[in-house]
Amino acid sequence: MLNIVLFGPPGAGKGTQSTKLIEKYKLVHLSTGDILRGEIAQGTALGLEAKKLMDQGILVPDAVVIGMIRNKLESNKQANGFIFDGFPRTDAQAQALDSLLEELNTSISMMLALKVDEEELTKRLLIRGKDSGRPDDSDESVIRKRIDVYNSQTLPLINYYSNQNKYYSVDGIGTVQEIF
Ligand code: AP5
Ligand code: MG
Repeated sequence: MLNIVLFGPPGAGKGTQSTKLIEKYKLVHLSTGDILRGEIAQGTALGLEAKKLMDQGILVPDAVVIGMIRNKLESNKQANGFIFDGFPRTDAQAQALDSLLEELNTSISMMLALKVDEEELTKRLLIRGKDSGRPDDSDESVIRKRIDVYNSQTLPLINYYSNQNKYYSVDGIGTVQEIF
């Protein structure tokens, strides 16, 4: 199995590059952000709770997203592999992911970390915010908050994967095709 953690700050291009990678390598795309927005769109209790946090740019509880990933892994046992997009975001999530994959007799192959500076991230997200309907893209202070949360809670995961020799940095500036 090819299991990729596609890593990077908000607006780095994780979703954009996932679309191309899943097509080329026939992988299953697991984006916790997309799954959460699906719950919000369906008006579930989980979605309502998550929305309050997402609209402020803060993380939803580990147990919630780990449970989602567990369900998706269990229902896709025949997959060639997975792209984890926007997950894991904390140390607890990374450890939980390793144990879940171990139960399936597999493991993370690599972390691909997209590097994009803050100015470019903000620019991309504000542009998308004009017509995406994503409340967390429409307000510059929420975008800054998401970047702060990334820097303090998520960025340290680079150490987690680099300690396992699985960390690869990718320049995330340029055309979508060049980065791919
Ligand atoms: P999530 O949905 O994961 O959002 P994010 O990480 O903030 O990142 P985005 O999806 O906005 O960016 P992206 O890197 O996918 O870039 P994209 O390809 O879209 O999370 C949202 C919220 O959900 C979190 O804040 C949190 O509350 C919650 N959540 C999710 N997962 C969680 C977890 N594991 N634990 C706890 N909470 C969780 O590109 C961005 C824009 O740039 C697009 O408009 C795109 O067209 C454009 N673009 C892409 N590539 C390029 C390029 N090369 N040049 C120019 N523009 C480009
Ligand atoms: Mg995304």
